[in-house]
Amino acid sequence: MSTVGSTERPLRVAIVGSGPAGFYAAGQLLQNKELTVSVDVFDRLATPWGLVRFGVAPDHPKIKSVTRVFEKAAQKPGFRFHGNVEIGRDLSHQQLADAYDAVLYAVGTPADRHLNIPGEELAGSGSATEFVAWYNGHPDYADASFDLSAKRAVVVGNGNVALDVARMLMLSGEELAVTDTTDHAIAALRDSEVEEVVVLGRRGPVQAAFTTPELLELGELTLADVVVHQDEIELDPSSAKALEDADKTTTSNVETLREYAGRTPSGKPRRIVLRFLASPVEILGDEQGHVRGVVIERNELVEDGGRLAAKPTGQRETLEAGLVFRAVGYVGTPLPGVPFDADKLRILNQDGRVLDPETRQPLAGVYAAGWVKRGPSGVIGTNKKCATDTVELLLEDLGAGRLPSPSENPDALLEQLRERGVPVIDYAGWEAIDAHEKALGEPQNRPRVKLVDRDEQLRVAGYQPVG
Ligand SMILES: Cc1cc2nc3c(=O)[nH]c(=O)nc-3n(C[C@H](O)[C@H](O)[C@H](O)COP(=O)(O)OP(=O)(O)OC[C@H]3O[C@@H](n4cnc5c(N)ncnc54)[C@H](O)[C@@H]3O)c2cc1C
Ligand SMILES: NC(=O)c1ccc[n+]([C@@H]2O[C@H](COP(=O)([O-])OP(=O)(O)OC[C@H]3O[C@@H](n4cnc5c(N)ncnc54)[C@H](OP(=O)(O)O)[C@@H]3O)[C@@H](O)[C@H]2O)c1
Repeated sequence: MSTVGSTERPLRVAIVGSGPAGFYAAGQLLQNKELTVSVDVFDRLATPWGLVRFGVAPDHPKIKSVTRVFEKAAQKPGFRFHGNVEIGRDLSHQQLADAYDAVLYAVGTPADRHLNIPGEELAGSGSATEFVAWYNGHPDYADASFDLSAKRAVVVGNGNVALDVARMLMLSGEELAVTDTTDHAIAALRDSEVEEVVVLGRRGPVQAAFTTPELLELGELTLADVVVHQDEIELDPSSAKALEDADKTTTSNVETLREYAGRTPSGKPRRIVLRFLASPVEILGDEQGHVRGVVIERNELVEDGGRLAAKPTGQRETLEAGLVFRAVGYVGTPLPGVPFDADKLRILNQDGRVLDPETRQPLAGVYAAGWVKRGPSGVIGTNKKCATDTVELLLEDLGAGRLPSPSENPDALLEQLRERGVPVIDYAGWEAIDAHEKALGEPQNRPRVKLVDRDEQLRVAGYQPVG
C-alpha cells in the first residue's frame, strides 16, 4: 500500500468553508514540498471568500484584493472547489470523515450576539450582521429590507463592524455608486432619510475595539460631521493609567477622539455621534410595533477580574430613533456531528484540534481554523497564522500516524452528490460568475455587480442539471 502523501496516494483533506481561514489552510497544505496533497474546499455558497465578499465594506475595495492570494492557492495542482454544498445538509460530517484523511472546519461564526434587552424584537431593530450581509449581496439576505425613513439610527457596539455600519449609512449615492454594494442596497441607501447615526460604546475610549484608520475615516466623510462629547471621553483614573501602557491603536484612538471632541461641526447635512459609557437598556416601540427610541443608561467603569467593566449608574436618557443595529459581535452555530463548545460558541477545540466532548481528547483527523476555532475576532491576516498553526498540527498527526484511514473515496462521495442533483459549482463555475460580475461592473466603473440570486449564479456558472 502506498504511503499517504505520496504521488500514488495523496494526503486527502476536506476543508469546509472558503473564507480566509479555509483558503490560507488550503494554500499552506498545497505548498508543502515533501508531500502530495489534494484539497477539496466546500462552501455552502456558490461563491468563495467568505466575509471578504460578504463582510468587508464595499467602500474598502483594496482590502478585498487579498483574494489574489487565495486565487493563487486555487491554481495549485490538487485543489478543487465545491461550491453550493452545505456540510450538515448536503453532506454530513461522517461522510467527510469516511472519505478524507482529515477534515478541517473553517466555517466562521455566522450568527450575531444579542443585547437581551426589552424591545430588541421590534421592527426597525436588527443586527449589523443582517444589514452587512444585505448590502454585500449575501444570497440568504437578498430579500431583507430596511426602513431607512427615520432621521436617527443607533448603532450599538464599539468595534469596526459598528463603524462600518455607521459609515455605510452616511455615504452619498454617488459614493456608493462606484462600489460593489448590491444594487438593491444602493437604491435604498440613496433614498435614506437617516441624518444622524449615534454609535454607543458601553465603555470608554481606552476600551474601544475599533482601530484608528477606521476611526479617522469618520472624520473625513463628505456628507457627515463627526461629533464627540468632551465629557464622555474624560478618562477615569484606571483608564488614564491603562492608557500609559496602552498599544499604539489605543493611544491613537484616544488622540483622534480628543481631536474630534474639539471640532466645531462644519455644517454638513449628516452627523455621526460617537457616545461612550452608554448602554441601551430598552428599545421603545410605537403603536405599530416599530422602533421609536432607545433608553440609554450611563455607565461607570469598575475593576472586574483584571479588566475594566461597564457598571450602570442609574442615570438614563431617551434617544428618539427609528432604527437600531446591534453590532456587538458574531457567534458560531453548531454543525451537526461536529463537537461544539456551548459556552464559547465555537467548535470545541484545542489549538485547532477538534476535541471529543466526552473524553476531551483530540478527535482523530478533525480540525478547525479561523473564527470558528478562535472566536469572532481578528482581521483577515490573523487567520493566516491561525490556519498555518492548525495545518502544522495536522501534518504532525500525519507524521505520528494519528490520522484515521478513510473507508471511502472522495470521488465516490462527489459522484453521489451529483447523482442526488445537488448543484455543485466548481472553481471554473466560480470563475465564470466572477468574470460575469466584473463585466457587468466595468461600464459603471464599479469593481463588479454582484449576482445575488442563487439560480442566476448557477446559470452563469454553467451548471447543467444531471439527466
Ligand atoms: C462585517 C465585517 C467586516 C470585516 N471587515 C474586515 C476588513 O475590512 N478587514 C479585515 O482585515 N477584516 C475584516 N473583517 C474580519 C474578517 O472578515 C475575518 O477575520 C475573516 O473573514 C474570518 O475568516 P473565516 O475563514 O474564519 O470565516 P468566514 O470569512 O466567515 O468564512 C466562512 C466560510 O464558511 C462557509 N460555511 C459556513 N458554514 C458552512 C457549512 N455548513 N458548509 C459549507 N460551508 C460553510 C461560509 O459560507 C463562508 O464562506 C470583517 C468582519 C466582518 C464581520
Ligand atoms: N476594517 C477592518 O479592519 C474591520 C472591519 C470590520 C471588522 N473587523 C474585525 O472583525 C472582528 C469583529 O468585529 P466586531 O466589531 O464584530 O467585534 P469586536 O471588535 O469584538 O467589537 C464588539 C463590540 O461590541 C461591544 N459589545 C459587546 N456586547 C455588548 C453589549 N451587550 N452592549 C454593548 N456593547 C457590547 C464590545 O464592547 P466591550 O469591549 O465592552 O465588550 C465591543 O466594543 C474584529 O476583530 C474587527 O477588528 C475589521
